[in-house]
Amino acid sequence: MAENVSLHVLVRLLQSLVLMFLSQLVVPGYGQKTALSGDMRTMLKVRDDLLGIPENKVILQDWSSQDNPCNWTRVDCEEIGISSVVVRRIDLNHRNLTGPVPPSIGLLLNLTDITADGNQFSSIPQGFFQAKQLRLISFRNNLISGKVLDKLTTFQSLRVLQLGQNLISGRVDPLARLNRSAVEVIDLSGNSLQGSLTTFSGFSRLVSLRLGRNQLTGDLGTLEELTSINDVSLEENNFNGTIPTSIISRMSSVNLSRNSLRGTFTLREIFVPGFITTLDLSENRIQQVAPEFQSPGNQSTTESALDFFWARGVRKITLGGNGLSGSIVSFPESASTFNLSHNMLSGNLPEDTRATFYANVETLLLNNNSLTGPVPKGFWNMEKAATMDLSGNQFTGALPGGAIIMPSLQALNLSRNTFSGPIPAEISNLMRNFNLRTVDLSFNNFSGPLPRDFPQGENYTYLFTGNPGLCTDDDFFRKENSLTRCSKPSRAAVIARWAGAGSSLGVVLLLTTVSLCLWRLKVVKDNEMDEDLVRAVNSGLISTRLIPLKELEKATSNFAEETKIGEGGFGSVYRGFLEGKKVAIKKSSDAVLHLVQGKQMFMNEVQILSGVNHPSLVSLVGCCMTKKHALLVFEYVPQGTLAEHLYYRRGEGLDWNQRLKIARQTANALSYLHFMADPPIYHRDVKSANILLDDELNAKVADFGISKVVPYQQFSTDHISTTTGVEGTPGYVDPEYYVNFRLTDKSDVYSFGVVLLELITSRAPLDFRRGERDNTLVKMATNLLRTNALHLLVDPMLMIVFDDNEDVKKNILSVAELALRCVHRLPLNRPDMQQVAREIEALSSVQFHVGAYKSTMEEEDMDFIWTAYPAASRGSPSPYERATGSSGSMEFRFGFGR
Ligand SMILES: *[C@@H]1O[C@H](CO)[C@@H](O)[C@H](O)[C@H]1NC(C)=O
Ligand SMILES: *[C@@H]1O[C@H](CO)[C@@H](O)[C@H](O)[C@H]1NC(C)=O
Ligand SMILES: *[C@@H]1O[C@H](CO)[C@@H](O)[C@H](O)[C@H]1NC(C)=O
Ligand SMILES: *[C@@H]1O[C@H](CO)[C@@H](O)[C@H](O)[C@H]1NC(C)=O
Ligand SMILES: *[C@@H]1O[C@H](CO)[C@@H](O)[C@H](O)[C@H]1NC(C)=O
Ligand SMILES: *[C@@H]1O[C@H](CO)[C@@H](O)[C@H](O)[C@H]1NC(C)=O
Ligand SMILES: *[C@@H]1O[C@H](CO)[C@@H](O)[C@H](O)[C@H]1NC(C)=O
Ligand SMILES: *[C@@H]1O[C@H](CO)[C@@H](O)[C@H](O)[C@H]1NC(C)=O
Ligand SMILES: *[C@@H]1O[C@H](CO)[C@@H](O)[C@H](O)[C@H]1NC(C)=O
Repeated sequence: MAENVSLHVLVRLLQSLVLMFLSQLVVPGYGQKTALSGDMRTMLKVRDDLLGIPENKVILQDWSSQDNPCNWTRVDCEEIGISSVVVRRIDLNHRNLTGPVPPSIGLLLNLTDITADGNQFSSIPQGFFQAKQLRLISFRNNLISGKVLDKLTTFQSLRVLQLGQNLISGRVDPLARLNRSAVEVIDLSGNSLQGSLTTFSGFSRLVSLRLGRNQLTGDLGTLEELTSINDVSLEENNFNGTIPTSIISRMSSVNLSRNSLRGTFTLREIFVPGFITTLDLSENRIQQVAPEFQSPGNQSTTESALDFFWARGVRKITLGGNGLSGSIVSFPESASTFNLSHNMLSGNLPEDTRATFYANVETLLLNNNSLTGPVPKGFWNMEKAATMDLSGNQFTGALPGGAIIMPSLQALNLSRNTFSGPIPAEISNLMRNFNLRTVDLSFNNFSGPLPRDFPQGENYTYLFTGNPGLCTDDDFFRKENSLTRCSKPSRAAVIARWAGAGSSLGVVLLLTTVSLCLWRLKVVKDNEMDEDLVRAVNSGLISTRLIPLKELEKATSNFAEETKIGEGGFGSVYRGFLEGKKVAIKKSSDAVLHLVQGKQMFMNEVQILSGVNHPSLVSLVGCCMTKKHALLVFEYVPQGTLAEHLYYRRGEGLDWNQRLKIARQTANALSYLHFMADPPIYHRDVKSANILLDDELNAKVADFGISKVVPYQQFSTDHISTTTGVEGTPGYVDPEYYVNFRLTDKSDVYSFGVVLLELITSRAPLDFRRGERDNTLVKMATNLLRTNALHLLVDPMLMIVFDDNEDVKKNILSVAELALRCVHRLPLNRPDMQQVAREIEALSSVQFHVGAYKSTMEEEDMDFIWTAYPAASRGSPSPYERATGSSGSMEFRFGFGR
């Protein structure tokens, strides 16, 4: 007990000793009787200089002359040796200080950082620039005038120079005196500076260059030399020459708005994944974005197609006011700002099938173009959209009457189009209950009565003029928008309508009752298992489980809509639980059993399915056939289809290893069907949507032999003739099929070749928006590989891998070549499935050390995050959020640790 107490005392003693020691270290005692060091005296001089301006007196109360300057607000000192203390950092941000910057600061020879953003300093005297150890000088948002840069001396350590938003004049040329291998950030935006970019030649560490809103001239060629550059804003100058495409593609943020830049580029070459997040090229003289795939040697290209598929990961895209022509082929999926206004864009807008653009976009401006057709449905379901301006185009069609889900919408402008139909009541609902405040629907063909309940008042703006068919009985709107009065239907007409409705209702009710009774009688018999099927199973002709309809109904809650996971021409697929196991239940549409051979077809199919057994084929659990329904029960494959993954509708994106594995497993499954099954089975609808993936992303081929109109007897011949119309899926179908309407094993090889191309490109097998020359993936791949342009073919998400790793590149090329052999026009020249499987086996024997797109991004972000300022105490935003380049020098944090 006594021991414990003395130990306790000892610990307390040690603690206070340590504390004393620490306090001496951190806060050198001004009150102690040591002599004032040089810097302390200088700080008192700085204070006096500032207080020479009467307005500053109130502000600097916390810099008391009785106090140690190292204890002043936002002054950081460092103790050197035993009694020497130097001032390292001064932060005067946002203190509303006026007058000239005190020249005495220049006497603080060991000062490294001075920040004084958001004050009203009027000038920087020569003397200030004597502080040779400065790393950071920041006087943004002041009133500094004069030719300040002329006073710059040779700072050897200066890394950050921020004088943006002042009144500085003169030329930028003196910046060349700085240590070019030290400077990382320059912000001189919003001044009146002259000169050209050549001054910045050789700034090898420069990460961020902000020179917007000055009077600079010349071209942007120098940017090519700035190997570390990541963030450039040069807006509102007089730069001319061509857009420096290759450098733009390596940066994360680019603003070149309002200059006189020319040139063409393809979206693919600018939007290299993992780099650019903000691009503003608005109001230049870019006439055309080059078509993505230019015929080699043919410069006279046709219409360009703006394929924002390539702009994944980009947050802001602003290309307005350039005279761009062509049509929009797809939307940038993660963009929050998409401004293409004031161009010459034409054509109909695409539907964003994955709906990610609809989910992300906040500002959508397509106004003043020549766009046509109806607006895509998804436009009315943009959850975050605050501004939507489609005015000044040739859009047609009606607004949806059912659902407009746009809770964030504040301003909607559809004026000067040819929209028609009524104005839906949802618009007034968005105004009353959500955020919509400004609505301009003027100069269209809207008709009918204006919805009631439009809120009125100073916060709401409406424009409905120029719609001849529109009427309202509200005097306010009639007067404001010169609308006509709606003519009311007469009283008699209303009564007549109601009477008519009443009598027909009675007839319907009666009929329903009668038919219900009849149906009850039939239903019991209808639900019994088909006798022929029972016989086939009992005799061993078909070996599968028969599952009563009742159980399947129970498993799917009576085929409830919520359990539906797929739909197609054949019928629907439902998810369900059968004896505690998840299954997928395929319910043929009723029409199938009504075909003459419908029942035979179904039994035929069950026989095929129950006869195969391969790990990469979806396995049949059981089946059921009644008078009305034909159902197949399969193992449940949880991760959806390959198509969903390739088109980024599901999952995180597939890396090349995963894609290779899927190719191998699919090839093996098809080879098994062709060569091991007896009789051989031709799938006849091989496509990425028929390849399912399990939790380990293993391929499971589905839909073989399903709803194919093939009587059993015909399996003995070595080809299958079909009795109904065209089979297979457009884009995947063997061209030979259109010649003689025969599907052979080589037709599967063809379709598989198309799947291989999908795996390489993540592009749809058929897309008419790609133009005649490239509309099928086969044509596009053939064209590009003929000119050795593999890099234009591959999914950009594999691109990062690509640049680093020659082996992967070779591997992808080999697979692409195999794919082209599979899709050879002549079936005879295609390899058979066994051969294909063997080759893929060989090609996939290596595991490449590659990451998927996402993981690469994460690593990058971690490496490059560099906080320029601890955000909390400071009002101004950090000069940039992300920096790339040789980041070895970026370990330090500017600012103050307090
Ligand atoms: C530092 O300032 C605080 C109040 O701002 C004061 O309480 C403290 O005594 C000062 N320290 C020294 C060493 O002057
Ligand atoms: C800043 O100072 C000016 C004059 O020196 C004064 O008019 C203004 O009100 C001050 N602003 C703030 C926010 O203190
Ligand atoms: C402080 O500055 C002086 C003069 O430039 C220099 O000699 C000295 O080494 C510096 N001390 C430190 C710790 O940087
Ligand atoms: C210029 O800066 C670099 C990087 O900070 C440094 O290594 C070099 O010594 C500096 N040059 C001079 C002449 O001080
Ligand atoms: C670009 O501007 C400079 C100076 O303003 C001028 O001399 C030059 O001819 C211009 N170049 C082009 C290609 O317009
Ligand atoms: C580019 O600069 C202009 C100023 O000319 C500004 O209005 C615009 O918002 C900037 N663009 C982006 C994407 O920040
Ligand atoms: C170039 O392309 C255009 C449009 O596609 C075509 O009309 C023209 O014949 C082509 N010229 C050559 C030399 O291939
Ligand atoms: C969109 O671009 C146009 C044309 O450059 C420009 O006038 C407009 O201010 C931009 N709008 C927004 C919200 O950036
Ligand atoms: C208009 O909006 C302002 C700001 O949101 C609000 O304070 C004001 O009450 C609104 N006026 C009316 C009449 O709703």
